Amino acid sequence: MIECKGKIAVLTSGGDAPGMNAAVRAVVRNGIAKGYEVYGVRRGYNGILNKEIELMTFQDVSEKLQHGGTFLFTARSAEFGEEEGKKKAAEICKEFGIDSLIVIGGDGSFKGAKGLSKYGVNVIGLPGTIDLDIAYTEYTIGFDTAVNTAMEAIDRLRETSNSHERCSVVEVMGRSAGYIALWCGIANGAEGILLPEKFDNDYEKLIEQIKENREAGMTHQVVVNAEGVGHSNSLAKRIEEETGVETRATILGHLQRGGSPTARDRVYASVMGAYAVDIIDQGKKNRLVGYKDGHVYDVDIEEAFQMKKSIDDYQYEVAGILGTRCDYKNI
Ligand code: F6P
Repeated sequence: MIECKGKIAVLTSGGDAPGMNAAVRAVVRNGIAKGYEVYGVRRGYNGILNKEIELMTFQDVSEKLQHGGTFLFTARSAEFGEEEGKKKAAEICKEFGIDSLIVIGGDGSFKGAKGLSKYGVNVIGLPGTIDLDIAYTEYTIGFDTAVNTAMEAIDRLRETSNSHERCSVVEVMGRSAGYIALWCGIANGAEGILLPEKFDNDYEKLIEQIKENREAGMTHQVVVNAEGVGHSNSLAKRIEEETGVETRATILGHLQRGGSPTARDRVYASVMGAYAVDIIDQGKKNRLVGYKDGHVYDVDIEEAFQMKKSIDDYQYEVAGILGTRCDYKNI
């Protein structure tokens, strides 16, 4: 009988993201392979507070890899947000003999993890968010699937927009981050892109551009608007009123969060999940796992919080040149 090296727990927290299941599966299977007992926590941090903590087997994570969502369920916990909640969670981890907790989630979930680490729980974070808005990593679990889902939806919208010679305003997710909007802007060749990080509220500039492009012979237009900028319905109304071009707004919403993960999300999530266990096995403490220069790596949680992320200016400029200007008359 192999001696158990320790107990690892894993949870998913915040907005779900396709690929979270692949990451949990990798944690469970690599954990067992390396001699640990692995516990699944249901419903995020609430699951610790409510002691929804179950020992997982190799088979428990079978048939999960190919599905979006998170079979462990997820939540945003108000109680855990309080200092008392974190203290209580740390005590429950101790009671269960859990030495390390792997948290799969976004920035908010990592903030919670950092707080919990102060009470002696070793926390390891995996970036799980469709928003791609975590500074220390070039990749987050779910972004690839979400952006492909949004791209396909916008391709469809463009076809109907083209047939009716309309303008389409399409809102993609990203409350404070415009990565999905930027990528769709480029991938869908959008004629307008509004990102929370860049937009200066100059709607007139956008409207003038739509007018100019129509006059130059463009028969339809797609404007990709990030959730963080919002107001897509009123924007569509204003475009229609000021340009005379029939305009429709479509808010893609939560459908971007579902769906079978792409190969990239399955593979990267699996590698990061396995890696999280390996760094625990190496004795590392309070680290976040990410991708940099195409390789999986880990960084100190405090250090990661000092990093800032901004929209790639060159990508933004390229998106503008390729899609938003129209010089048909000059060709
Ligand atoms: O963080 C991921 C995300 O999908 C954001 O893009 C969006 O603003 C938010 O979650 C929506 O959260 P909820 O599911 O709570 O409506």
